[in-house]
Amino acid sequence: MERRTLLKGALTLGASLAFARKSLPASAADSRIEVLLDEPLGTISPAVYGHFTEMLGAVVYDGIWVGENSKIPNTGGIRKAVIEKLRQIKAPMVRWPGGCFADSYDWADGIGAAAKRPERGAFWRGEPNSFGTPEFMRFCQLTGAEPYLAANVRSLSALAFDRWIEYCNAPADKSSLGRMRADDGFRDPFNVKYWGVGNEAWGCGGNFTPAEYSEEFRRFTAWTPSYQGPLKFVAVGPGSEDLDWTEQFCLATFSGKRAIHPKNVYGWSIHHYTWDLARGKTHDWDAAKGDALQFDIQDWYEVFREGGKVEKIMLSNWEVLGQYDPDHNIKLVVDEYGSWYKPGTESDPSHALEQQITLRDALLTAQTLDIFNRHADKMGIGACAQLMNCLNSLFLSREEKFIVTPNFFVFDMYQSHQGATSVRTEFSAPQVSYQRDNRPATFWGLNGSASLKDKILTLTVVNPHTTEHREAEIMVRGGSFSSAEVTALTNSDIHAHNTFDHPEAVSATSQKVSMSGSPLRYTFAPASVTKLSLSLA
Ligand code: AHR
Repeated sequence: MERRTLLKGALTLGASLAFARKSLPASAADSRIEVLLDEPLGTISPAVYGHFTEMLGAVVYDGIWVGENSKIPNTGGIRKAVIEKLRQIKAPMVRWPGGCFADSYDWADGIGAAAKRPERGAFWRGEPNSFGTPEFMRFCQLTGAEPYLAANVRSLSALAFDRWIEYCNAPADKSSLGRMRADDGFRDPFNVKYWGVGNEAWGCGGNFTPAEYSEEFRRFTAWTPSYQGPLKFVAVGPGSEDLDWTEQFCLATFSGKRAIHPKNVYGWSIHHYTWDLARGKTHDWDAAKGDALQFDIQDWYEVFREGGKVEKIMLSNWEVLGQYDPDHNIKLVVDEYGSWYKPGTESDPSHALEQQITLRDALLTAQTLDIFNRHADKMGIGACAQLMNCLNSLFLSREEKFIVTPNFFVFDMYQSHQGATSVRTEFSAPQVSYQRDNRPATFWGLNGSASLKDKILTLTVVNPHTTEHREAEIMVRGGSFSSAEVTALTNSDIHAHNTFDHPEAVSATSQKVSMSGSPLRYTFAPASVTKLSLSLA
């Protein structure tokens, strides 16, 4: 597909922002966005903006971890560029070590002197174990992210889980494992609070039935050692839309004479990948996948249609959980999401599951984060799968080469939602109409989310239309604004992506604008993600 000229948006953006004190005539705008400041939906947990790093392909080795003796700039073996970029986007949390890998991993292999650590033929690839718990914790400390560890339920015991907690959280002078951590360079406990109890227990995590997994969950979480306070356990939720898993797990765990209280469960893990682009012709795992770079307009919309299903999955799980946990102690943890295309765009054959990331994936990521924001009351954690050199990545690297993908800009733009109060926002816009296998299909015309923090209103908006601008009247009920900053991520080519040769083909552009009054008017570019930051007067 031939690349067309990049639309560097600063001037275009400035020119398209206009404000009016009175309501505009109906003909002037085709869309409306109404932000209702007095209708809070809940605080957006910063952890919703988290990431996932599995010991898979080149996520860790050649990605995050380059080793202390590498010529690639690093801090204690961790690639400096990743540290800097994660700090820039205020990455709040990172999940590790898997994924499917977690249920084949013995954490004890990854501690102690590097030279003495065993090499294993693990789940995805040979595992040298040079990156283990101490290195992951160093990575978290350097980036400012909270660790979220996934325990091995399939092939290790509950005792091994207790011991991992002990290694991480016991005071150095009170346990041999605490002393081993101190020998590994960390006298102070890591104080890891978030623990996933397995991963995809219905599949690679053990092929359990929901009732069997309930037993494992009860056993693994009962009487775990507690040092700095209660731990936050995440239970494995269903594979995509399998609500029966949720119902059966809840029944076995939270009902009857031996029920455990839902407040002992912090979160309910949901994974939803956007992989099935076959429009119903097949649901075969390989055949239904699309291509990361070669796609037509149907495939463009299909990604948003499939990706948007996460909202339905979240709501249906929330409803079932609510039957057993009416106070909603248990939060939703969407700890794997993103696009998943067929192989072929990886930069090196050893980079398993790596794919290129285009503007399409950036819109999908923005759409997902907006969904999370709109359900701030339900969401505990989000983790984009996966951070680098993998599926819906923010970074691509190969040896010393390192670039950011369009997804990075989405996380950069959306960071101001972290910890803010989500407020109800109504969007109305002409629907997108297109041909879906020669049948007319429609799709929403504009969508997004808004939040308020420190007198700054952040409004993020996705315009999925491939060619049409959307001219919107934006009403902010309950507040007036004195200035605005607009950041937009778009391109005249829907296939646009960054490469090692053209690392800045896609990037976000920002512009400060002075303004007053309401409504304001803004023209959203086709195929764009936009953030308006409005300062409350
Ligand atoms: O992210 C790749 C894999 O997808 C993970 O290991 C697993 O949890 C999921 O099926």
